[in-house]
Amino acid sequence: MAKQDDIFKNVISHAKEYGYIFPSSEIYDGLSAVYDYAQNGVELKRNIREYWWKSMVQMHENIVGIDASIFMHPTTWKASGHVDAFNDPLIDNKDSKKRYRADVLIEDYCEKLYQKAQKEIEKAKKRFGESFDEEQFVATNPRVVEYLAKKKEILERMARGLDSGDLADVKALIEELEIADPETGSKNWTEVRQFNLMFGTKLGASADSAMDLYLRPETAQGIFVNFLNVQKTGRMKIPFGIAQTGKAFRNEIVARQFIFRMREFEQMEMQFFVKPGEEMKYYEYWKATRHKWHLSLGMGAENYRFHDHEKLAHYANAATDIEFNFPFGFKELEGIHSRTDFDLKAHEKFSGKKLQFFDNETNTSYVPYVVETSVGLDRMFLSIFSKSLQEETLEDGSTRTVLKLPAVLAPTKATILPLVKKDGLPEIAKEIIEDLKWDFNVAYDEKDAVGRRYRRADALGTPFCITVDHQTLEDKTVTIRHRDTMKQDRVAIADLKNIINEEVSIKNWLKKMM
Ligand code: GAP
Repeated sequence: MAKQDDIFKNVISHAKEYGYIFPSSEIYDGLSAVYDYAQNGVELKRNIREYWWKSMVQMHENIVGIDASIFMHPTTWKASGHVDAFNDPLIDNKDSKKRYRADVLIEDYCEKLYQKAQKEIEKAKKRFGESFDEEQFVATNPRVVEYLAKKKEILERMARGLDSGDLADVKALIEELEIADPETGSKNWTEVRQFNLMFGTKLGASADSAMDLYLRPETAQGIFVNFLNVQKTGRMKIPFGIAQTGKAFRNEIVARQFIFRMREFEQMEMQFFVKPGEEMKYYEYWKATRHKWHLSLGMGAENYRFHDHEKLAHYANAATDIEFNFPFGFKELEGIHSRTDFDLKAHEKFSGKKLQFFDNETNTSYVPYVVETSVGLDRMFLSIFSKSLQEETLEDGSTRTVLKLPAVLAPTKATILPLVKKDGLPEIAKEIIEDLKWDFNVAYDEKDAVGRRYRRADALGTPFCITVDHQTLEDKTVTIRHRDTMKQDRVAIADLKNIINEEVSIKNWLKKMM
C-alpha cells in the first residue's frame, strides 16, 4: 500500500515539476479538487482530446460533433432527473470528522475480496503451470467461490438499499462489514444521507428577477436537447451519433485523488441514437470499440477491465465501466451506458416538443434509444501519465526517470539540441525548428551538457532528441535519439519529418484498433 502511495505522490510531484499540472490558485493555498493544466499538460490534454475526436467523429460517417453551452435552461435538469436523483450517499466519521461516500467505502471493501480471489488464482496458476484451467478453478475453488459470492451479495444489497432509499440498511451494511475510516480506523459513523452534486448559480442582474441555474453535471444533456436540430439539419439517419467534449461540474463529496475526481472536469461523450430493440447490439459494439481505442495507446491490456454495474443509474438498462489500473488500484475510466429512451422522452414531456425520428421506410415516428460512451478527459490524462512515468535502471547502474507517453500524445515531439553553443550549430538547430514546427510541436534546448538535456527530455516525455554536431556542417546529417530505447541513429535532416511522422501520426496509432 505504502508503495502505491509513493508511486501516486511521485506522479503528482512530477506533474508539477515538469509543467503538467498545478494546483489551482496555488498562491492562495489552492482550492480543493480544482487543478490547472500547465504548459505541457495543456498540450497532452489537447492531444488526448484530438485522438478521441478523430476516432469518434471524423472516422465515423454517421457521427457528428457539437459544442453546447455549459448553461442550460433549468428545466433540463428537472427533466433529466438530476434535480431529484443526482445524489451521492454520504457518511461522516464522528471521530475523524472526515466525510466519505458510503457506496465507495463498500465498493472498496468488495475490491479487497476480489483481490483475495485474484491472489488465489495467481497462486494456482503458478502451481499448475500449463495445465491450469482458470475458468474451472474460479467455478470450483471453495475460497474463490466464497470471496466472489460474498462480493456479489454485498453489492446487490447495497444496490437495493440505494435504489429503494433504505439508507439505514446501507449504514447497517457498513457496520456489519466492520468497515473503518480508511484514514483513522474509527468505526464511529453517522447516518447515511443523500447529497445533490449539482452546483447552483444565478442568471440575471437583480436578485428578484434572477433565474436559478445549474452548472451542467454532464455534457450529455446538451446533446439530447439538440437531437432533432442535428438530425434535421444534418439529415442524419438512425443509427447515428452526436459527440462533444466539454466541461462538467460536480460538487463531489470526496475529492482526494488529484485529477481523478475533480469538481470541474472535462468529459468526452457520444450519444448514439438507435432503433428501440437494437440497443443491446450497439451497447456491445461500443463496449468492444471503446476497449480497443484504449488498447491502441499501448498502456497494456492487463491494466484495463470491465465492471458491469449492479446498481444502474436512473436512466440506464445496462451499464459498464472500463476500469483502469491507476496508482491507487482499478477505478472507473469510462462509462458505457444503454440509456433507453429515458432522456428524449423526459425532454418531450417537460418541453411539450416532439423529439422523434421519422422513419421514411416504415412511415412511422419513434423516440430513439441511446447508447452512450462517456470518458473523463482528466481521467484519461491521469491513466496515461501515471502509467508512463517510470524509473529505469540502466546498464551502467545509473537510473533515469522517463515519461514514456505514447508518442502520438506527447506534448513536444522532438527537442533540437546543438552539441555546443558555437560554430554555427545553434543556427542550424533553429533552422530545423523553423521547418519542423509547421508539422509538430518542437522545442529548442542548448543549456547544460548534452546528457543532462537528454534526461530532461526523457522526464518531459519527448519521444525524440535531435542533436546537431560538427558533422552536420559537413554532410547535413544529425543524430536522432529515441526516448524509450535511447538508441541513436545518424539521419539526413531532410528525412526528419518522415521519421517523426511515422511515430506520431494519429493514423498509425488508430490503425492499431483495426
Ligand atoms: N453522461 C454520463 C455520465 O456523466 P458518469 O459515469 O457520471 O456518466 C462519465 O461520468 C465519466 O466522466 C466517468 O467515467 C469519468 O471518467 C468522468 N468523471 C465523472 N466524474 C468525474 C469527476 N468528478 N472528476 C473527473 N472525472 C469525472
